[in-house]
Amino acid sequence: MNPSPLAGPGTKVLGIETSCDETAAAVVVDAHHVVSSVVSSQVDLHARFGGVVPEIASRAHVELLAPVVAQAMIEAGVDGDVDAVAATVGPGLIGSLLVGVSAAKTLALVWGVPFVGVNHLEAHLYASFLEEPDLPLPVVVLLVSGGHTLLVLMEAHGRYRLLGGTIDDAAGEAFDKVARFLGLGYPGGPAIDRVATQGDPAAIAFPRAIPDEAYDFSFSGLKTAVINHVRKHPEVVTADVAASFQEAVVDVLVTKTLAAAQQHGASGICLAGGVAANSRLRERVLDTCVQHGLHPFLPSPSMCTDNAAMVAAAGWWRLQSDGPTPLDVGASPNLTLTFHP
Ligand code: KG4
Ligand code: ZN
Repeated sequence: MNPSPLAGPGTKVLGIETSCDETAAAVVVDAHHVVSSVVSSQVDLHARFGGVVPEIASRAHVELLAPVVAQAMIEAGVDGDVDAVAATVGPGLIGSLLVGVSAAKTLALVWGVPFVGVNHLEAHLYASFLEEPDLPLPVVVLLVSGGHTLLVLMEAHGRYRLLGGTIDDAAGEAFDKVARFLGLGYPGGPAIDRVATQGDPAAIAFPRAIPDEAYDFSFSGLKTAVINHVRKHPEVVTADVAASFQEAVVDVLVTKTLAAAQQHGASGICLAGGVAANSRLRERVLDTCVQHGLHPFLPSPSMCTDNAAMVAAAGWWRLQSDGPTPLDVGASPNLTLTFHP
């Protein structure tokens, strides 16, 4: 890592996040001091379609981004005097990404400060550092969101080893699809989390899929098992189905994450991504860490789901290691964690 004079103590980064259906802006100092964080969710616009509609999302970002950035700047008490502008360049929806990337480059040019392209997955990893800046490495990070399920060994800042991932549905996708089938609405994760508190997690023994590769996951068979069970037993209590499904997902996630942490001598386990807001997953990771002498790093639920504070934090580290991102770098809908623009 080549320290850049551009990201020293007191460096103030404006982060912008528009990769999916949240329009967000935040001002963060020194990669961990969140001065403002504004998130405008488009969830109501997409709810009646049961999922994110890309065209609607990008149009909404165009309308919402300027007021969201203005609010983040006002709340932070800064008037254009930021030291860098960081924006998510991928992965995500191309139209949505382009709105944030274009705005960030424009602001950086107007203010004469560096632009930093941020990988959305790396940003999720940095959510833990917002609240635990001195978190000791290496750690194993379970990154579970609507689009991704990754088990990552974070060895140093900017250095990641991908240990495994899903071979079919992402964990959040499974929550969303099962919730939709059960008529619990969108987004499905928070709905299942809520309903499951009224149900018995041991009511139905749903399968725990164990793919061949040690740290891979598979959730599509579980989703089918839920559908088949409900069709066969229409009288079943929805809360029991939700609780039993959630328990099956959490069981597999926690078992594999613990094994990875132990195998790689990690100091602890970090959760990241929207599914990391799940109350049962958080409870099980906490208990597991206490039992096995590991540190649990659980970002607060608002930092698990998409936000721009994590983008600003990751941007600070990228500025320090790589310097500014050239302005001809575009949006990359299929960016992977180990590749950075
Ligand atoms: O990280 P995120 O906000 O956006 C993506 O980058 O995908 O994650 C959104 C996902 C959705 O699938 C949503 O259902 C899930 O995170 N989610 C949850 C909870 N809150 C959000 N899943 C389970 N339990 C929750 N409490
Ligand atoms: Zn995300």
